[in-house]
Amino acid sequence: MKPLENLLQKNRVWAAAVHAEDPEFFTRLADQQMPQYLWIGCSDSRVPANQITGLAPGEVFVHRNVANVVAETDFNLLAVLQYAVDVLKVRHIIVCGHYGCGGVRAALENFRHGMIDNWLSGIRALRRMHRKELDALPPAAAADRLCELNVLAQARHVAHTTIVEDAWERGQEISIHSWIYRLDNGIIQPLAPSIEKPLGFYHSDPAVDEIPDVG
Ligand code: CO
Repeated sequence: MKPLENLLQKNRVWAAAVHAEDPEFFTRLADQQMPQYLWIGCSDSRVPANQITGLAPGEVFVHRNVANVVAETDFNLLAVLQYAVDVLKVRHIIVCGHYGCGGVRAALENFRHGMIDNWLSGIRALRRMHRKELDALPPAAAADRLCELNVLAQARHVAHTTIVEDAWERGQEISIHSWIYRLDNGIIQPLAPSIEKPLGFYHSDPAVDEIPDVG
């Protein structure tokens, strides 16, 4: 048996089944993609965007990284976002985190994990910002809460990008959704109302930043 032959075999079975149900499926998709959704999620293997939302190939544009971070200096994220907004003209941007996120947990631990600590610096800053609330919780609840706070913060980062602000300015309709996925039951929960217009400059200031209580 060749390496990974099982995966290639499963791929052929899948492609044949899709073709049997809809003979035009692949030829149609080969021409163009017109997804309505951009998914920004965690790289965690247990949170696959298409599968947990029941979306088929062609229906969701996807960006994933450790702990679903939206850093305005990340060219990878910005390239994906710009293409999704300006070219694909997605209607919805979903930031989906998950409880039990290893990246978020690492940001709560007071020891070095390696290079990843640099990637997680924004989440550590969020932890400092919400220290009072987090310190009052038992460790597991604090980790869950930081997962929620992280989703809410990253969704706001999307809203503050020049790409999304400019699109709204042009009159393009885009809704940004803050979702969290629970590993132990497979359920996605929205954490806050969707963001549908510019938040305003001062919204970025931690001193005035209002985060909905989603306890
Ligand atoms: Co994660």
